[in-house]
Amino acid sequence: MPYTVAEFVADCRKSLIQDSGKRGQDDVYSHLLKLLADPADLLSRIGENAAPGRYAIHHDPITDMYVFAHVYQDEGRSHAHDHGPCWIIYGNVSGRTDMIEWRRLDDGSQEGVAKLEKEKEYSVTAGEAAIFRNGAIHSTYHPAGPSMLVRVISGDMDSVWRHTFDPAKGTIKDRPPKEKTAATASH
Ligand SMILES: [Fe+2]
Repeated sequence: MPYTVAEFVADCRKSLIQDSGKRGQDDVYSHLLKLLADPADLLSRIGENAAPGRYAIHHDPITDMYVFAHVYQDEGRSHAHDHGPCWIIYGNVSGRTDMIEWRRLDDGSQEGVAKLEKEKEYSVTAGEAAIFRNGAIHSTYHPAGPSMLVRVISGDMDSVWRHTFDPAKGTIKDRPPKEKTAATASH
């Protein structure tokens, strides 16, 4: 029997009600790996040859967990960024996402200043996922060509204040909550 999106979100809800901290998040990561290994139901919701864009898959009103699928065709690169108060898990259904995880070296006491150094650099390929806890800073790159990414987020990231960083300049900028549109792609 396939692992359906309905089963996935039910498993996630159970895990996060039991423990919304590290253990519950790790369990959600495991559930996502299971979904990525068997994505037929997920794909049926988006459709074969889906156009590039962001697809809202699910929102759980009990735990406030969101699930989005992103379909890409063109090359894309994000600024280094955090996710406000949220944790987030990125998983690839197809294609590849290159990740850089950044470590912040300064104490945040100087406005507009953030010194970052690369902590980890790796690729997430089909069937794999990466978890970013509250406060984690990362940047992403995906090459040209079709790819599909699933993001599982602990809350409505579009409605919270976040930050973007320029590691080369050592700067940080506020990223205000954004207007919601179906095509908007947060990273
Ligand atoms: Fe991100």
